[in-house]
Amino acid sequence: MSNLAAAIKVGERYQNALLEYLAAPEETALLGGYDLGRRALSEGLGVLELATIHSSAVATALNCAPDGDERERFLSTHTAFFIEALSPFEMGHRAFRDANAILRRMNDMLEGQAKRIAYALHSEAGQLLASLHMELANTARDLPPEKTTHLTKIRETLLEIENRLRNLSHELRPPVLDDLGLAAALALMAQGVSSRWGLPVIVTVDLKGDLPAVIENTVYRTAQEALTNAAKHSGANRAEVRVRQSDRKVVCSVRDDGNGFDDTGGLRKSRPGLGLTEIKERVGALGGIVRLARNGDRGTDLRIEIPLDI
Ligand SMILES: Nc1ncnc2c1ncn2[C@@H]1O[C@H](COP(=O)(O)OP(=O)(O)OP(=O)(O)O)[C@@H](O)[C@H]1O
Ligand SMILES: [Mg+2]
Repeated sequence: MSNLAAAIKVGERYQNALLEYLAAPEETALLGGYDLGRRALSEGLGVLELATIHSSAVATALNCAPDGDERERFLSTHTAFFIEALSPFEMGHRAFRDANAILRRMNDMLEGQAKRIAYALHSEAGQLLASLHMELANTARDLPPEKTTHLTKIRETLLEIENRLRNLSHELRPPVLDDLGLAAALALMAQGVSSRWGLPVIVTVDLKGDLPAVIENTVYRTAQEALTNAAKHSGANRAEVRVRQSDRKVVCSVRDDGNGFDDTGGLRKSRPGLGLTEIKERVGALGGIVRLARNGDRGTDLRIEIPLDI
């Protein structure tokens, strides 16, 4: 059913139920308001639509009211019916907030686990591999040179394993976030992008204190992906990362002056890549939003907003 058809259908029932309640304002009639609120919710109507239905039902009821006293009574009682009709929306909203809080706690928990696994991969496995290297070096010393060739191969494989473990641990949680904090970590990452791709990047961070680890991680990953995209795809001459805290949210925007998404080389004809999808998933999991817009006349402005508490 279309929204309009649903609104008309709910509206008719609402009208009758309200008239019934106004004629005899009792508990059973009041519950009719609650049922209609539930019905409106399940038909996909919003609070504003319900308010419109209510006000037109009140207007009709007033027209039907025979005299001044009756109209006064209607005016003082209709609000209770409206509140009752709104209560399913309020309950839905509370359930949404609770679900978000649970999601946030789960995210924190996963972030903690990722941190521990990253540490185990980086430090503990790293140390074991380092002692294996020493053992190999000792063994090689006792062997005649012609027999050390396959040891060299083992050493190369070990180095490869070390490399992979390090990359994996950095992917799980960039250690630089714990070592330096978000602002310095972003500055360092931007420096890396500048020197690798020749793209000058300005970083500005204006925060009121430390952020939860999971939000720091998301901001860091977003900036990393957006800057890499700017360097790889946009042909920009400069880029800028700005992180700030406003009211109860964190806002991070990454802007470039490249070819943007309004010409042939830009986002509009782009294939869906993994990078932007991952940003949307990460930010969405924290109840935040991602916006891609044009940066003035030229380039791209990728902006994320993450609520600090829900
Ligand atoms: N700053 C930008 N300026 C212009 N085009 C962009 C910009 N960022 C992304 N794009 C376009 O959007 C596409 C999708 O980006 P996305 O990051 O999702 O994937 P990718 O960078 O191509 O690959 P991946 O991130 O998976 O390595 C890119 O291929 C590119 O065409
Ligand atoms: Mg990308």
